Amino acid sequence: MASRIRKRIVSALVVVGIVAAGAIAVAWRPPVSAIATPPRDSFDPALVKRGRELASLGNCNDCHMARGGKVFAGGLQVPTPFGTIFSANITPDPETGIGRWSEQAFVRAMRSGVSRDGAHLYPTFPYDHFTKVSEDDNRALYAYLMTRTPVQAPAPANQLVFPLNLRPVIVGWKLLFLHNAPLKPDPKQSAQWNRGAYLVEGLAHCGSCHTPRNALGAERASAQFAGGDVDDWRAYPLNDTSKSPVPWTAEALFTYLRTGSHPQHGVARGPMAQVVSNLSSVPEEDVRAIATYMAGVAGAPTPDRQQRGNEAMARIDPAKSAQPDRAPQAQAAHPAGAAIYQAACAGCHEAGRPLPYGGVNLLLSTGVSASDARNVTNTILIGLKPAADERSPIMPGFASSMDDGQIVALLQYLRARFSDQPVWDGLDRLVRDARGSQLTYVQTTAGAKNTPAAPQQREKP
Ligand code: HEC
Ligand code: HEC
Ligand code: HEC
Repeated sequence: MASRIRKRIVSALVVVGIVAAGAIAVAWRPPVSAIATPPRDSFDPALVKRGRELASLGNCNDCHMARGGKVFAGGLQVPTPFGTIFSANITPDPETGIGRWSEQAFVRAMRSGVSRDGAHLYPTFPYDHFTKVSEDDNRALYAYLMTRTPVQAPAPANQLVFPLNLRPVIVGWKLLFLHNAPLKPDPKQSAQWNRGAYLVEGLAHCGSCHTPRNALGAERASAQFAGGDVDDWRAYPLNDTSKSPVPWTAEALFTYLRTGSHPQHGVARGPMAQVVSNLSSVPEEDVRAIATYMAGVAGAPTPDRQQRGNEAMARIDPAKSAQPDRAPQAQAAHPAGAAIYQAACAGCHEAGRPLPYGGVNLLLSTGVSASDARNVTNTILIGLKPAADERSPIMPGFASSMDDGQIVALLQYLRARFSDQPVWDGLDRLVRDARGSQLTYVQTTAGAKNTPAAPQQREKP
């Protein structure tokens, strides 16, 4: 009996061994030879400048810089449902960065998610999008990174659950989800639209936050831009399921993406603040192209949706509006929330104050009409801190002046009065989680220059 079991174990081990050997054979990628770090002046300054713009479009600074760390030195904790991954050092430091990487090694990392030494990289590094980046753009990115200040900083070890801590497992993921074919231009669309498609689907990787993911952490192709989650924020839907009270147009998208806010949509907060901060310094045509393509993703509003947008705009001035005012009913249903709103919020959000203190009327807030209350809760807790040296929106945080019950009451009132959407469930838990979150960092608005978000702006409420 015992020997039969032992035999079975042995044959099982043999099978596992064969499968593992097969997997390693498929998975194995040769190292690309190390090179001597090329001198800075071997790169064309025009190429380096272009690379800087491309790095902004790709948000490389956003992930490759830890709190209080140095730009591109990596070490940022990127949380995933399977554990924590740390971003790599991509400064040209020869030992701990990419100083000994050839351009070929860099292109392979961008296209296929393989490190110089042949190790497979986790798709937290969004190479499922970067695989569409052109040869020329990769050359410019490489020139830019190789001319940064080298920083000696080894990446901390990842903390992932077994078996995902084994890099060969990534091969299975790639077989299923990595399609490294370049994007085919659509001849029926304009050059601007095609440029936008190239940027959005590739380097700018908008879908990595705005598309929901499946159980294996890959974007669901069938639900592109239907809304995703990032760092305890909701990345709203951008397709025809958008809950933005006023439908988005190409012009509004351009203003929002370029400046960080729009009078009919409010301001970009949380992880999106960093995206718009980066977009404030790239060529204007690139942002126009992104806006044109994204307006196509949103689609022309249906008559019903346009009508609801017009209604939201009309309600802003109850005196002139033909719409029944929702305020009395909302007040009767949620008196505690109504009192807090009147005392703490109405002065800035309804009085038509100019920036920096005037906020949008919350009838126009996507957050208040969104499927969950996370972004609104984060904003109430943390507020909006002024950006250094700029005239930027300012809102105080209420984390220390309101308890969870008061915030829940306020949220219920905001939803009833300022949106036509169903009530939010589970607010007690949501507010408790938001308060305990380490991840609700917030930056206020587009930076005048392309500086990465200041580390002190990434902090707990
Ligand atoms: C969403 C976060 C994120 C963004 C955006 C991002 N990266 Fe990364 N990147 C990572 C993480 C995390 C790793 C490490 C993956 C691993 O250890 O498997 C990484 C790894 C890399 C590597 C491999 C380094 C090595 O030592 O193997 C390179 C090269 C790289 N990134 C370049 C870039 C460039 C260039 C950009 C911008 C165009 C960029 N990354 C944008 C998260 C990101
Ligand atoms: C790192 C994650 C991330 C990336 C990358 C990202 N977004 Fe966002 N985006 C968000 C989050 C989070 C919000 C919600 C912000 C808020 O509450 O103010 C948002 C909000 C938006 C909104 C406002 C939608 C509305 O209805 O109010 C638009 C438009 C948008 N993003 C477009 C884009 C485009 C275009 C790109 C690519 C160029 C992009 N985003 C890349 C996370 C991201
Ligand atoms: C000192 C002025 C001020 C006060 C007080 C204030 N806000 Fe704000 N709020 C702003 C500004 C400015 C913005 C950013 C511009 C914008 O988005 O309209 C903002 C943005 C917001 C947003 C994001 C809107 C969007 O979707 O873009 C929400 C939600 C919000 N505030 C809710 C509140 C609530 C609830 C209160 C009361 C507890 C409050 N605010 C108090 C000034 C203020």
